[in-house]
Amino acid sequence: MRYARVAAIEDAYLKTEIDKTVSPRDHMYNTGQDWYFTVGLDGIRVVLRALSISTLGEVTRILDLPCGHGRVARHLRAAFPRADISFADIDTDGADFCANQFRGTAIHSQPDLSQVALGDGYDIIWIGSLFTHVDEARAETWTRHLCKRLSPRGILIATLHGNWSKEVQRKYGAMIGDAEWQQILAGYEASGWGYARYPGEDDYGVSLCRASTIIAMASRIEGVRILGYNERAWAGNHDVLMIERRDRMEAW
Ligand SMILES: C[S@@+](CC[C@H](N)C(=O)[O-])C[C@H]1O[C@@H](n2cnc3c(N)ncnc32)[C@H](O)[C@@H]1O
Repeated sequence: MRYARVAAIEDAYLKTEIDKTVSPRDHMYNTGQDWYFTVGLDGIRVVLRALSISTLGEVTRILDLPCGHGRVARHLRAAFPRADISFADIDTDGADFCANQFRGTAIHSQPDLSQVALGDGYDIIWIGSLFTHVDEARAETWTRHLCKRLSPRGILIATLHGNWSKEVQRKYGAMIGDAEWQQILAGYEASGWGYARYPGEDDYGVSLCRASTIIAMASRIEGVRILGYNERAWAGNHDVLMIERRDRMEAW
């Protein structure tokens, strides 16, 4: 996308009043009021950076997955007022809240995302903190599945727990108990992707990934190009992977 177009989207977004309606069931708000709105805003900065290095012309369809109760959704609506936005989450209350409050379509997800009818032709798929909670096999299967849901030149943006998350666990508030963290670190050392379940959860927990492992995973997906990998790009916390649906082997 041309820089001037990205700048115009940003200018209009910054002049728009954000809908600050918060659901009483918003887990991200209830556990992090102090940074809730700035983290949402920074999601838009990540999206704009990805657009500026993509070849996408316009944004007409967006998938926010998982939307939660709209930490980023409200900003996506403000930045792309005319776009069709689908809000997907396994928390059906969250998806319904986002669809009603921020004008869009709710998609009720399932534990296996590849079984969910997510629709097609998305110019942006924003995946804020989902792969941060699953193992590598699921993240790869889901990334492949989601890349096929993109429009030609559409972009997928996924956030991940990279190096910085080790400091977060150690100094800023543990994401998971010590026994599980040791299991995560062992997996991380062995393969570049550590994962452990939250106690009591079926198969949902915390992951920790090496940038090189993510790049290798994205490199195995056909029909796309890696746009970039940025450490701590979302709110100084999560790493960000950006992929464009444009065949890396397309002829000159
Ligand atoms: C850390 S929250 C992030 C929510 C939102 N992106 C945000 O930034 O506030 C993780 C979300 O993933 C959702 N989730 C977990 N498994 C899912 C699945 N299989 N499909 C869709 N959403 C899922 C949870 O319900 C939760 O809302």
